[in-house]
Amino acid sequence: MQVRNAVIPAAGLGTRFLPATKVVPKELFPIGDQPALQIVIDEALGAGIDHIIVVSNRNKPAIEAYFKPNDELIGKLEDSGKTELADRLRSIGRDWRATIVYQDNPKGLGHAVGCAQEAVGNEPFAVMLPDEIMGSSALLAQMNGVCSSTGGSVVAVAEVPRHQVSSYGVIDPSGDLSNDGVISVKDLVEKPPIDEAPSNYIITGRYVLTADAWGEIAALQPGRGGELQLTDALKAQAARAPFHAVLSDVSRHDTGNPLGFLTASIELGLVNPELQGDLRTFLGNLEY
Ligand code: G1P
Repeated sequence: MQVRNAVIPAAGLGTRFLPATKVVPKELFPIGDQPALQIVIDEALGAGIDHIIVVSNRNKPAIEAYFKPNDELIGKLEDSGKTELADRLRSIGRDWRATIVYQDNPKGLGHAVGCAQEAVGNEPFAVMLPDEIMGSSALLAQMNGVCSSTGGSVVAVAEVPRHQVSSYGVIDPSGDLSNDGVISVKDLVEKPPIDEAPSNYIITGRYVLTADAWGEIAALQPGRGGELQLTDALKAQAARAPFHAVLSDVSRHDTGNPLGFLTASIELGLVNPELQGDLRTFLGNLEY
């Protein structure tokens, strides 16, 4: 079954980016000429998803404004012959559907995702953490395929040095890694102490979950840090149903912090045909 819905949790206040986030949500910071959020949406659309559910917060009205048609601006662009740009603006939310739901109390990632249940309904869905920019739909498309062939939920994982595991959700794999990077998962644990981590495979910000995860999300109790953790819902799911991880080698940037944002801007600039030539020259001439 093709996954059609993607939930993008974007209710956080972006405190690591203050004062920049005082007015502009970090999901709308530009990478090249695109808001980071649009890059994540394009990744979803490239994997066949056509309904984007953004979990926002009422203190971030700019997110909602991004999805609203702006006929006046489009008219002005057309009048001045900028039809390509006008088309690009018109396409936001035209060939796909955007729904905004609200998480007004920050109770954790599991709670944020739970706020999207009604909008998604009884179907499998992707969860895409917008702090992570992948720049390609290949990983999500592969995860969709694994979800439909196994009938179970799938998380993306990356292998990291041991000292980093405590900042992430960690999987406990069972069996061997297949040639295409798929591994069966028997347990998941949120931010374990280093000596209790069951592996060096951390959960990165992409999930494809079967609809029965909603029950486990609704039943969540406070976990690590007193928050309702998505990882704990998946732990319960993996204990009773097939569950897999896909080891990702796509380059990924954590744009939740200023350095990650810079590296994402540089890497995506280096693959953008309009920017790459001058950017390469600039970087090559840098003296420091
Ligand atoms: C969240 C999840 C964690 C996951 C991480 C990926 O943590 O809870 O399991 O590994 O995202 O970025 P957060 O970064 O919100 O603390």
